[in-house]
Amino acid sequence: MSMELRKYKTILVTGGAGFIGNHVVRHMVKKYPQTKVVNLDKLTYAGNLENLRDIENAENYVFEKVCITDVKETARVFQTHKPDVVIHLAAESHVDRSIVSPLEFVETNTVGTANLLNQAKNLWIAEGFAGKLFYQVSTDEVYGSLGPSGYFNEETKYDPRSPYSASKAAADHLVMAYYHTFGLPVVITNCSNNYGPYQFPEKLIPLIINNIRHGRPLPVYGDGSNVRDWLYVTDHVTAIDLAAHQGRIGETYNVGGHNEHRNLTIVQTLCDLVDGKLGNTQGTSRNLITFVRDRPGHDQRYAIDADKIKSELGWTPAINLKEGLSLTVDWYFDNDRWLENVTSGAYKEYYEKMYKVT
Ligand code: NAD
Ligand code: TYD
Repeated sequence: MSMELRKYKTILVTGGAGFIGNHVVRHMVKKYPQTKVVNLDKLTYAGNLENLRDIENAENYVFEKVCITDVKETARVFQTHKPDVVIHLAAESHVDRSIVSPLEFVETNTVGTANLLNQAKNLWIAEGFAGKLFYQVSTDEVYGSLGPSGYFNEETKYDPRSPYSASKAAADHLVMAYYHTFGLPVVITNCSNNYGPYQFPEKLIPLIINNIRHGRPLPVYGDGSNVRDWLYVTDHVTAIDLAAHQGRIGETYNVGGHNEHRNLTIVQTLCDLVDGKLGNTQGTSRNLITFVRDRPGHDQRYAIDADKIKSELGWTPAINLKEGLSLTVDWYFDNDRWLENVTSGAYKEYYEKMYKVT
């Protein structure tokens, strides 16, 4: 299938100071030096400008500290920079937090997305929608929970189970509503669990690595039999690049690496990797594994059928799980200062120093 290759003058990335966002921003800044990359981020607990230290002075990079629900400020950013593509990642992203404060998730993920859709429509309607794109970065969690077999494909009905996935599902529906009602050009990708450098240590993989480093218990929810389909973060970024430039308008694409594993297996693998790295007797870290109360509404299994993005856009993941976990363990050990800063909260001072906030 032949695909139009869209070119952009200005990319607006939302949530670019977060885990996936910083990899997206870095990739776009480096790969497209003629394109201005605007990073719009509120800098919640999950946003950390230290993640972008290596490119923060690049000529084609601009940072805007703005909340996606702020109508006036987002309108200013759209008017000032006039992006021709929005790559929307800003979100509250942690399922456990969504169980504690669901309304924050609806506010940011659903209402925030609606505001951005409106801002894009208002900016682009005057000159026509050709060559423009609103790209929604979504999750496979909108599809709900699988039994022991089968895969999510693009035809699978949305069936979200957590406040997080429901707020993302609602946002995805709004994206498609803007496509059907107003003709806004949109693409959605639904990706499986990411892991890799700069992931906040509340998510399973960095949490386990950090706890092993400190000799703390390794909490495994329930019996550890829940299955996730893991993808190294830079493989997600190559999918985002392809879908942003060549994805068919109005389409959704599933992204996943066929790396399904039970949580307990992932935790044990991390223990063995760290023991190997530190020269510990094998089994030392496994002794820290502690089974804890299960997450309410815990989805049993996620698994992605990524054939559509493979056959239409030629995407394939480059990093297998063994390699990716090893790279990730090495990164967290080599960047213990980053880990200390995000766990102590010291990383918040970086923005204040960098942007001279008094
Ligand atoms: P993250 O929590 O690491 O980062 C989120 C970023 O969004 C942070 O920089 C934060 O400051 C910013 N943000 C939050 N609320 C904001 C607001 N109101 N206004 C402006 N900025 C705000 O998240 P992540 O893991 O990088 O996920 C990024 C996106 O990818 C999310 O939309 C998520 O749903 C999606 N996704 C994540 C995964 C995964 O495994 N992490 C998988 C599939 C899809
Ligand atoms: P998480 O990284 O929170 O991602 P998600 O819930 O979006 O899939 O969790 C991944 C899996 O690991 C999930 O099944 C819950 C489980 N988990 C634990 O067993 N212990 C933990 O401490 C965490 C954070 C997650």
